[in-house]
Amino acid sequence: MMGAKLGTIFARAGHEVVFSYARSEQKLKRLARNAGGKARAGTPREAAQDADAVLLAVHWLRFGDVLKQAGDLSGKVVVTCSMPMNKDNTKLVVAHTSSGAEQLAKKIPRARVVSAFGTVPSEVFFSVYERRRKAIRPSLVYCGDDRKSKNVAARLIRDVGFDPVDAGPLRIARYTEPFTMLIAQLAYEVKGGPKLAYRFERFK
Ligand SMILES: NC(=O)c1ccc[n+]([C@@H]2O[C@H](COP(=O)([O-])OP(=O)(O)OC[C@H]3O[C@@H](n4cnc5c(N)ncnc54)[C@H](OP(=O)(O)O)[C@@H]3O)[C@@H](O)[C@H]2O)c1
Repeated sequence: MMGAKLGTIFARAGHEVVFSYARSEQKLKRLARNAGGKARAGTPREAAQDADAVLLAVHWLRFGDVLKQAGDLSGKVVVTCSMPMNKDNTKLVVAHTSSGAEQLAKKIPRARVVSAFGTVPSEVFFSVYERRRKAIRPSLVYCGDDRKSKNVAARLIRDVGFDPVDAGPLRIARYTEPFTMLIAQLAYEVKGGPKLAYRFERFK
């Protein structure tokens, strides 16, 4: 859901995209075909090799496997939208004193990890992209410790149609990840449907 939709939008926004990591290669090829532009299917290693950015959009329990398949990520900008959820996606297994994003950064200490895109449901991405030329855009928080990776993430966030909100260092993912649980509650458990985004406003 996250990788397929964001990858499709990145490709339509003009980026060269490699879809990787699924049990069916046919699915990845179909995604690339439907995305159009400069999109193709590949292995996680091929996706990471020459990439300016890698989007990590897999279940928490798949981190070990996908990172092994991706190979050396030294120096790479790794944008994670993944949440540290238990097997049946009912609760966070890391929270308050750490976050999924920080745990990921520990696993790949030479990569430049930024947390972005995970605070909205995948269902809303195409609607946000379609309305990207409107004056008022929804917000999207992101956080990380590395300026370069944050600039790359902010550009991608803008390309999708959001207004990027820099929330500070990666440890702030301790708060953005539980915030996502609120968004999921509003999207899936409260009347109105899952095409939900949010907007912050500052008053003087
Ligand atoms: N969905 C949302 O709205 C949302 C919102 C915020 C954050 N997130 C987070 O984003 C991450 C991705 O969520 P998602 O909903 O996008 O998940 P998803 O649709 O299930 O996508 C996960 C990807 O991993 C692949 N995969 C799973 N098991 C595999 C295996 N054994 N071998 C190879 N590939 C495998 C899946 O391929 P297959 O086609 O083979 O299943 C799929 O391509 C999660 O950490 C989630 O918590 C999701």
